[in-house]
Amino acid sequence: TGAEAGDLGGGRAHTSRSAVPVTDLTGPATPAPGGMRRTHTLVARKATVRLEAGPSVDAWTFGGTLPGPPITATQGDLIEVELANHDIDEGVTLHWHGYDVPCANDGAAGVTQEVVARGGRFVYRFRADQAGTYWYHTHHASHLGVRRGLYGTLVVKPRQEARPAGLDLTLPVHTFDGAVVLSGGAEHLAPAGSLVRLRLINTDSDPHRFALAGTPFTVAAVDGRDLHQPGQVSRKTLRLAAGGRHDLEFVMPGTPVSLSLDGGATLWVRPAAGATAATEDVSGWPELDLLTYGTATREPLRTAPAGRHFTLVLDRGLAMVDGAPAYAQTVNGRGHPSIPHQLVAEGDVVRFTVVNRSLETHPWHLHGHPVLVLSVDGRPSTGSPLWVDTFDVRPGEVWEVAFRAANPGVWMNHCHNLPHAHQGMMLQLRYD
Ligand code: C2O
Ligand code: CU
Repeated sequence: TGAEAGDLGGGRAHTSRSAVPVTDLTGPATPAPGGMRRTHTLVARKATVRLEAGPSVDAWTFGGTLPGPPITATQGDLIEVELANHDIDEGVTLHWHGYDVPCANDGAAGVTQEVVARGGRFVYRFRADQAGTYWYHTHHASHLGVRRGLYGTLVVKPRQEARPAGLDLTLPVHTFDGAVVLSGGAEHLAPAGSLVRLRLINTDSDPHRFALAGTPFTVAAVDGRDLHQPGQVSRKTLRLAAGGRHDLEFVMPGTPVSLSLDGGATLWVRPAAGATAATEDVSGWPELDLLTYGTATREPLRTAPAGRHFTLVLDRGLAMVDGAPAYAQTVNGRGHPSIPHQLVAEGDVVRFTVVNRSLETHPWHLHGHPVLVLSVDGRPSTGSPLWVDTFDVRPGEVWEVAFRAANPGVWMNHCHNLPHAHQGMMLQLRYD
């Protein structure tokens, strides 16, 4: 049915010879000096899970829980995860979303590894050199598997923290059977004056809107990367792209703080048990503009001449897919697997322009490399350098981004609305 190598929708094994011998790209096998080895076994299996919010769902899980086991590490640790597929007939892999792992660990089924079939195993190993908030998920039949629960969180703490947060919460949001669930508990205590960090992770295929009421805060990091001198924000909403992450920080006031998701308050942080505050109506709050947020700092990539430039025009309609006309989500008029690869060489400065000609939002995601946002609709990024791995290209928008080709391999480049990727909106970036 037109599925092939790298298809998030599931497909046959990759047979064509890869331009890059992926198995060579495995990276270090030991922790950095002073680091430790963090080992996990994740068993992919079906389970009926009772959600924090109430209802039970028939899920596909890692280890029987939703989300799967949280993976945490300190910079310099070696993360070693054995994936075992107990009973997922469709097959599974693990992709480390936003984490620049060596290519052989990237989990792109049919491209960097064979899918792990029922009864099979695969070991992922990579050094946690980047601090920040990330997540993992299956990268095979993921429009089914991620939605049903094959995902979890990955948080890497810096080796040295200027001021460690007293309360540090990892908060993945996911929709199960139409119910939006923010995992991580609805009630938390933090003494007044202490530092609180909230790590928001959007594991859905559509954007979510967050608002923090009761205190000014900073957006300390976007997609795992710290922003430069982020300023205080108050009474603004945050729009979080599918797949994206925002880390919010604030000093706990003497009164409760609430985090609302899509307009409803879902999480309270209180200075003392029983402290109450009225729920604020956040519906009229404007959206924070990350293009102008934070402070500019020297970032050579903002002006570096590009060695390669690609344009991706996103649309949908009738397209040639695998030699036959089909209705598809398209890039430059074609659907996966008929979209030509993007070829780069190590060391290239690469720019790409993403144009959305459709009426839907496309959260664009490149594996293996964070990209620097240069402009949106011609409006340049003038705040902190904004490094992202997933960016929402709304209908009619034009995004310009750049990155340095410094992680050799074969990398998927696709829409992170996973049904869209399944319907064709996906290509490969390859080092030649
Ligand atoms: Cu989070 Cu290719 O995916
Ligand atoms: Cu899309």
